[in-house]
Amino acid sequence: MMFTTAARWPAVFLLLSALCTLFVPAVTVKHENFKTCDQSGFCKRNRQFADDAAASSWTSPYALDPATITFKNGQLSGTVFKTLKEGEAQVRLPLTVTFLESGVARVTLDEERRLKGDVDLRHGSQARKERYNEAGKWALVGGLKVADGAALSEKAEAGYTKVFYGDAGKHQAVIRHAPFGIEFQRDGETQIKFNDRGLLNMEHWRQKVEPPPKEEEKKEGDEENKDEEKTEEKVEEKKDEGPKGEDESTWWEETFGGNTDSKPRGPEAAALDISFPGYEHVFGIPEHATRLSLKTTRGGDGNYKEPYRLYNADVFEYEMDSPMTLYGAIPFMQAHRKGSTVGVFWLNAAETWVDVVKSKTTANPLALGLKGHTDIQTHWISESGLLDVFVFLGPTPQDLTRQYGELTGYTAMPQSFAIAYHQCRWNYVTDEDVKDVDRKFDKFNIPYDVIWLDIEYTHEKKYFTWDPLTFVNPTKMHKHLDKRERKLVAIIDPHIKNTNDYPVIDELKKKGLAVKNKDGGDYEGWCWPGSSMWIDCFNPAAITWWKGLFKYDSFKGTAPNTFIWNDMNEPSVFNGPETTMPKDNLHHDNWEHRDVHNINGMTFHNATYEAMLERKKGEIRRPFVLTRAFYSGSQRVGAMWTGDNLAEWSHLEASIPMVLNQGISGFPFSGADVGGFFGNPSKELLTRWYQTGIFYPFFRGHAHIDTRRREPYIAGSPYTEIITQALRLRYQLLPAWYTAFHEAATIGAPIIRPNFYIHPEDEKGFAVDDQLYVGSTGLLAKPVTKEGAESVSVYIADDQPYYNYFDYTVYQGAGQHTVPAPLDTIPLLMQGGHVIPRRDRPRRSSGLMKFDPFTLVVVLDKDGNAAGTLYVDDGETFDYQQGAYIHRRFSFDGKRNALTSTNLHPRATVKTDAYLKTMAKVRVEKVIVVGAPKAWKGKSQVVVSEEGAKESARKRQVGFEYYESSGKKAAWAVVRDPKVAIGKGWKIDFS
Ligand code: GLC
Repeated sequence: MMFTTAARWPAVFLLLSALCTLFVPAVTVKHENFKTCDQSGFCKRNRQFADDAAASSWTSPYALDPATITFKNGQLSGTVFKTLKEGEAQVRLPLTVTFLESGVARVTLDEERRLKGDVDLRHGSQARKERYNEAGKWALVGGLKVADGAALSEKAEAGYTKVFYGDAGKHQAVIRHAPFGIEFQRDGETQIKFNDRGLLNMEHWRQKVEPPPKEEEKKEGDEENKDEEKTEEKVEEKKDEGPKGEDESTWWEETFGGNTDSKPRGPEAAALDISFPGYEHVFGIPEHATRLSLKTTRGGDGNYKEPYRLYNADVFEYEMDSPMTLYGAIPFMQAHRKGSTVGVFWLNAAETWVDVVKSKTTANPLALGLKGHTDIQTHWISESGLLDVFVFLGPTPQDLTRQYGELTGYTAMPQSFAIAYHQCRWNYVTDEDVKDVDRKFDKFNIPYDVIWLDIEYTHEKKYFTWDPLTFVNPTKMHKHLDKRERKLVAIIDPHIKNTNDYPVIDELKKKGLAVKNKDGGDYEGWCWPGSSMWIDCFNPAAITWWKGLFKYDSFKGTAPNTFIWNDMNEPSVFNGPETTMPKDNLHHDNWEHRDVHNINGMTFHNATYEAMLERKKGEIRRPFVLTRAFYSGSQRVGAMWTGDNLAEWSHLEASIPMVLNQGISGFPFSGADVGGFFGNPSKELLTRWYQTGIFYPFFRGHAHIDTRRREPYIAGSPYTEIITQALRLRYQLLPAWYTAFHEAATIGAPIIRPNFYIHPEDEKGFAVDDQLYVGSTGLLAKPVTKEGAESVSVYIADDQPYYNYFDYTVYQGAGQHTVPAPLDTIPLLMQGGHVIPRRDRPRRSSGLMKFDPFTLVVVLDKDGNAAGTLYVDDGETFDYQQGAYIHRRFSFDGKRNALTSTNLHPRATVKTDAYLKTMAKVRVEKVIVVGAPKAWKGKSQVVVSEEGAKESARKRQVGFEYYESSGKKAAWAVVRDPKVAIGKGWKIDFS
């Protein structure tokens, strides 16, 4: 049948709309829900300030009065004066510069008048008057010992004060009095400059000047409502009328998305420019869905127009390649160049924006020796609080992560199950469903350790309860899981349902432990349960109460194998401004939410960690608590994940730089939802995501409630088999991962490491962020993140041989190398020079591997040597803190032709001996040598000797096989079952 013209249009329309649905832009973040810098008053003001300062006539109005300077016990104090207008009183800003033993310096600037409480708050607010000065109380746990050796320089020029500090006085702080500024030098070379561009801006307290009332208003005389009614007009009238023509329009009330912030303290931003001369790359300040090497933010081709924002928020369906804020904030930035890594930690918990600009000086061909170079200029802007900055002068990336960790704490050593595979979805709907999923993993021989329950397990979203219809017997469910040493993680969020017949909310209210609104009443908002209130974990009494809720006789149905997931702790408030709490809400001790926002999530995470330690007297196990919101210090109590990503290739790709960035920013126990949270991944994407996820320190599959089930056994052949292989690879390498976690827990090293961290001298590789090294193992993975890929290009930074993990193909020579990567292949190389510990027996869970034997893979470097370490403990208790662990170093010496195991444990204790006993039978069952020397050809035995062995067994002959190299594949050799104990010293002689 032919269409008439009239009938054809609807058909065309249908076709068009069908096509449109094929090409709908991906679901994307609701930009209108989140502020841009321009919509955030203090950010706008400070960016404007920066623009004004760029004008040639600008001088920063801040000066350090030399007469006020004192230097005592490694600390310089003084007063910085801010000059307002000619002839007007100056604002007094107390300054401290503290020199720490670690070689780190700390600069704080406060505001005397607010500090003394000599200010009036508007609207009768009960809020604290000081600038928030307790961020350190939550974030810092050490590293504050003051340097005895720091000393004032005797030959400072006029106008400057100089302090030598750091190891052998190699560091120097050159403090300029007027305008106030500091240059931090290492070995006489300036690495970091404060206020070089004159953007220091401490918005001092001021009284709001009310305009004279208009005639009609005077007549109306409605005293009570006057203030609010006039707000809008006042804003209009006052524009551009402040001192020096400052824009006052955002000093007082600010409205966004229908919410008005009453701002009882007026404007109070703290801002500063920090420059890194000679640096081309800066990294850090998570969490953003962006590249590792941060882009510039002041516009231009391919650059961002907005500053990086740090304001923990539930950013639904977040977008890629963006400086927008996400769920967590770590205001720690590192600048890196060949030969030097330096950094700053901006200790402030309020909303913060960071502009990054690179200024290039090109080489001048006429001026000999004047090389071109790049400087990075950053501009840090916080809404309130102290100016409090730590300065790190490196010089290596390892120094930075160690020193930052000394201050904020290292990663908590997790239980061993926590670094295995986690299976989650929103939701496993009944206890029978949980058991069924568990059985299917076993049926398909797929390893997994933990199954997760999202919010639907609760009775009507009341945490600490079980839905009586769907989770009928949680105790039985836990027992079922425990048979294979598996665990259960249940979600507990910080919003407490505001309803009748729920003792938890009754207690929260009665005990006064909820976050308060600006008028001092319990703050009420909306989240998953509907009307809710929020526990205020800044209050010590709230933590005490929270601990009680997790005891086995309180949270009935939980067991020693229950662990916890803390979500929505930014906090997420569905009807709040920018999906969070109003800034004028009040926390414990009357600090405004504005001051503490970015720390809020960490306090809740902390409280849950504490609670997990005290579930039962005498039963002390390492807690596992996952968090979504985080701040500097969160690494001490658990893991994080990158929130609600999408089942799209771009999100898979972005997960790698995001997790790498977490690693160098002190919170390495991190991962992204495998498979993508929203949407249904294709089988190929799901498979690639598992092959990537095995390289996340925190490895969990998760999916939104509206998605189809996607447990690894569902995909079918060949996907299920390929995913299973990937999971087995993770399990095989768990000893290497655990050792990497131990490094994170003791020296703050990232668990997965970017190229620059391993090869800090390799300029070409500084921005490489799509491949990763696992700990110090030399394992180099380049996950496939492109649809249909058959190969990947791996960047090699040095001249060592790199061997394919599976077939020992050699790749050598700095530069890009094509490595085959069809769907069933994971591009994974081993850098020559390492010994990689593994456990090769496939098991159903990591708990079942506890006493399995080890395999050591000795990967020879170009000179025929290799070394590596292994850390093992009981994977569960805190006994390791009293010495109950094995820490070995394996090294192969090419000249001596021998592999030895030596002890790294500094001092054996009673607990060490007891632990060694439990491990006495655990042996090395195989040694593989990759890149084996030709001279070994024809050999069929090696000689093994072990410490403490009986005379007769002191030297044993053990079977040996040698495999010649073929084509590009390296020669390799195997020692079959040397039967040496993992906890002992031994030697395998290949000569
Ligand atoms: C949040 C979390 C997500 C979880 C959901 C329901 O969106 O990010 O992981 O499944 O809440 O609890």
